[in-house]
Amino acid sequence: MAISFIDVHKQFGEKTVLTGITMSVERGEVLFVVGTSGVGKSVTIKHIIGLLTPTSGEIIVDGQNVEGLSEKQFLPIRRMVAMVFQASSLFDSLTVLQNVQLPLKKHKGLNDKKAGEVAMKLLREVGMDAHANTFPADIGDGMRKRVAIARALALDPSYILFDEPTTGLDPVSARRVDRLILSLARDRNVGCIVVSHDLQAIFGIADKIAMVYQGRIYREGTMEEFRNSSDPVLRQFLSGSSHGPMETPGF
Ligand SMILES: Nc1ncnc2c1ncn2[C@@H]1O[C@H](COP(=O)(O)OP(=O)(O)OP(=O)(O)O)[C@@H](O)[C@H]1O
Ligand SMILES: [Mg+2]
Repeated sequence: MAISFIDVHKQFGEKTVLTGITMSVERGEVLFVVGTSGVGKSVTIKHIIGLLTPTSGEIIVDGQNVEGLSEKQFLPIRRMVAMVFQASSLFDSLTVLQNVQLPLKKHKGLNDKKAGEVAMKLLREVGMDAHANTFPADIGDGMRKRVAIARALALDPSYILFDEPTTGLDPVSARRVDRLILSLARDRNVGCIVVSHDLQAIFGIADKIAMVYQGRIYREGTMEEFRNSSDPVLRQFLSGSSHGPMETPGF
C-alpha cells in the first residue's frame, strides 16, 4: 500500500513547475520532500488530494490512479489521505475539543457524546487533552499544530501530508511534532509525506528523502544515502544549517 508519483509534470499556463516527479511512500514510512523555496513542493503534494491535476504523469493511491476522478470519486481518497496545512486551519470560534469533534460528527456520523469521547482520545494521543476546552487563539503555534494533527487523525487516515509542520515553531515544539509524526508512522502505520526545510526534523525522523530540484526529483534515497553522497547539490542542501550531516541529533 503506497502513494506513488510516476513522472508527474505540471504547467500553469505557460509556466512549467514540475518536470518529472517520481517518488513513493508506503504506509508506515516517513518521506521528506525537500528543495528550495518555490521549487514546487507544495504543488506536488496538492496533486494527491486532487487540489491540482497533473499536466501529465500518474499519481497512484493504494493502487488507484487518481487521474480523471470526479469530485465525488475523490471523497474516499480525501478520507484516506489527510492534509495538515502550514497555517493550521482550525476554527477560531470552536474550542480545541469541538474542532476535533467536527469531522467525527460530520463525516463519521457520531453523536455529540461519542464524538467527544473519540476526540478526547485523539487529543490525549497528541498531548493536548488538558487544553480541550480552550480556544485556538489562546494556545501557541506548536499546540495548534498538534490539534490540527488530532483533527486529521479523526477519520483514521492511511496517509497524512504535512506542509512545513515545524516551520515557525520553537525548537521544543518542533521536536515534539517530529516525534508525533514518527509515532503516527510507527504505531498507526500511517504513511507520512512531510514537506520541510527543517534539517533537524529530516535527520531525526526521515526514512526517505525526495529532493525536488529544477522541477523534478533529483534524488530519492535514505538518510544514509544522502549523507554519504558526494553530489554537490545534495551536499549543499545538507550543509544548509549549523547541523552538519555528521552531527545528527540522536532520537
Ligand atoms: N495555482 C497556481 N497557479 C500558478 N502558479 C502556481 C500556482 N500554485 C503554485 N504556483 C507556482 O508554482 C511554483 C511552485 O510553488 P510551490 O508553492 O509548490 O513552491 P514550494 O516549493 O512549496 O515553495 P516554499 O518552500 O516557498 O513553500 C511557484 O513559482 C508558484 O508561484
Ligand atoms: Mg510550499
